[in-house]
Amino acid sequence: MFDFTPTPGISRREAYAELAAAARALTADEPDGVANMANLAALIWHWLPDLNWAGFYRVQESGLVLGPFIGKPACIRIALGQGVCGTAAKRGETQLVPDVHAFPGHIACDGASRSELVVPVRHGGAVIAVIDLDSPLPARFDATDAEGIEALAAAISPAIAG
Ligand code: SME
Repeated sequence: MFDFTPTPGISRREAYAELAAAARALTADEPDGVANMANLAALIWHWLPDLNWAGFYRVQESGLVLGPFIGKPACIRIALGQGVCGTAAKRGETQLVPDVHAFPGHIACDGASRSELVVPVRHGGAVIAVIDLDSPLPARFDATDAEGIEALAAAISPAIAG
């Protein structure tokens, strides 16, 4: 049984360190990558405030394919280089988007989304997935969030590769 909230009163950096530790613990004994992504999406959803979508797109030969998530039903396939997720996956770089309407090619899966953070997950030298977080608030995510989710991506990479 896990407590799905950070310790009250700690800094956001400390909360992200706790999130990575919780994610490691949650996935430690499970080799199934889909099961782990499902639990991780739920963990992120309960950990971070002001999200309307949290989940994974997996990199396949054809491009990005929707993985486990919490939120409204979303576009299933995204070409590499398309939208915020495809850009993050193709470049292998985090995309921090304070205003999704200002991002050329942004793909609107939920019309309520105003800002977005997409972080590549690397394994064995390749991008195998992206973590996608959407918020109904403008500029919901900053550099602390980007660093925190990048640390989370590194922590959970082996657990979702299977
Ligand atoms: N907005 C994303 C698409 C995925 S949804 O937000 C869940 C994009 O532009 O790639």
